[in-house]
Amino acid sequence: MRNVPFSPPDITEAEIAEVCDALRSGWITTGPRTKEFERLIAMCCQTRTAVCLNSATACMELILRVLGVGPGDEVITSAYTYTATASVTCHVGAKVVLVDTAPGSFEMDYDKLADAITERTKVIIPVDLGGVVCNYGKVFAAVENKRSLFRPANEIQKAFGRVIVLADAAHAFGAQWHGKMCGEIADFTSFSFHAVKNLTTAEGGALTWLPIPGIEDEWLYKQFQLLSLHGQNKDALAKTKLGAWEYDIVAPNFKCNMTDLMAGLGLAQLKRYPELLWRRRQIIGRYNEALKDCHVQVLDHYGDDHSSSGHLYLVRLLGKDVRERNAVIEEMAARGIACNVHYKPLPMMTAYKALGFDIADFPNAYDQYRNEVTLPLHTCLSDDDVNYVISNFVDIISK
Ligand SMILES: Cc1ncc(COP(=O)(O)O)c(C=O)c1O
Repeated sequence: MRNVPFSPPDITEAEIAEVCDALRSGWITTGPRTKEFERLIAMCCQTRTAVCLNSATACMELILRVLGVGPGDEVITSAYTYTATASVTCHVGAKVVLVDTAPGSFEMDYDKLADAITERTKVIIPVDLGGVVCNYGKVFAAVENKRSLFRPANEIQKAFGRVIVLADAAHAFGAQWHGKMCGEIADFTSFSFHAVKNLTTAEGGALTWLPIPGIEDEWLYKQFQLLSLHGQNKDALAKTKLGAWEYDIVAPNFKCNMTDLMAGLGLAQLKRYPELLWRRRQIIGRYNEALKDCHVQVLDHYGDDHSSSGHLYLVRLLGKDVRERNAVIEEMAARGIACNVHYKPLPMMTAYKALGFDIADFPNAYDQYRNEVTLPLHTCLSDDDVNYVISNFVDIISK
């Protein structure tokens, strides 16, 4: 029987060679490859700067810290996401505010989002699910309408003068929206290069940002270096310069830097990325065509004004419930095909129930979840694999 994994890393000799070069170079932690990877990420996103860390979670947590978000503040995000989007708010001691999705949509209900903004709201984290960029026009309209409520607590918050938008674009590196690259739309954008993502560094993440009036990019970049490297005022490379042993610790900070081994992997993946995005688009086209007459709703990856990174293929089995959906996933597994669910909404998870969330308050998110199946979508799939997934899925859901 054919075996179709859900999302294996697509590693070629090019990646292996680049990581080996890093290993042989004598410099394996944060150094020249990480700096080069940051330069290229910024170039791809059409931003002036990017910073790379060891996860998207670290990127989101550290920007909340740079912005001075903490106890007494609120951060709004979608109920329909992975825990990292919300847990970072808990890490900094602020309050998580979850918003339901709009009916029949994987995106937040933008009217409910506007209603959720209070005098305590500091940041909104929209989620570019499956690689599809959210409607930032509506997010920024909600933020502008509530500008008078914003209470800045420090210089950087004052520079914004309104609620700050941090895109959780863990899935969306390479996506576009209204002629802009994902990375140059929200105030800050966080990408994941985790092993299952389109472009991987095994673990890893990057953060980009738009120019902030009165705030230097170099200052912001420096904050990430201090927060991600123990609060040490020199990085490891600078310390190895002959005679330059002395350093200071300016704060008892965290440790979540990217290494040059990770960046080496990323550099090789980045060279192949246009081809990887193209292959994803081709597979999505095949899936869409095969499912067009089935009783399903699929995530809209491509349109006149947007083009996603093609990260996840989400299908809703219309009219089916959780039990029937799970039976489809089990039947696909019995035929050697790994499927998944994106996502079980956060209010259904133990940790978020303990914070007081109840799925009964998020009926639309529950409706999206109850019949959602994610098909394998990756660049190790052969055309025969794609045909095998299609014929089995159509056979199973038509029964
Ligand atoms: C929507 C979303 N946000 C954030 C993350 C966290 O990414 P990382 O594992 O790089 O911290 C993930 C990881 O899967 C994710 O799916």
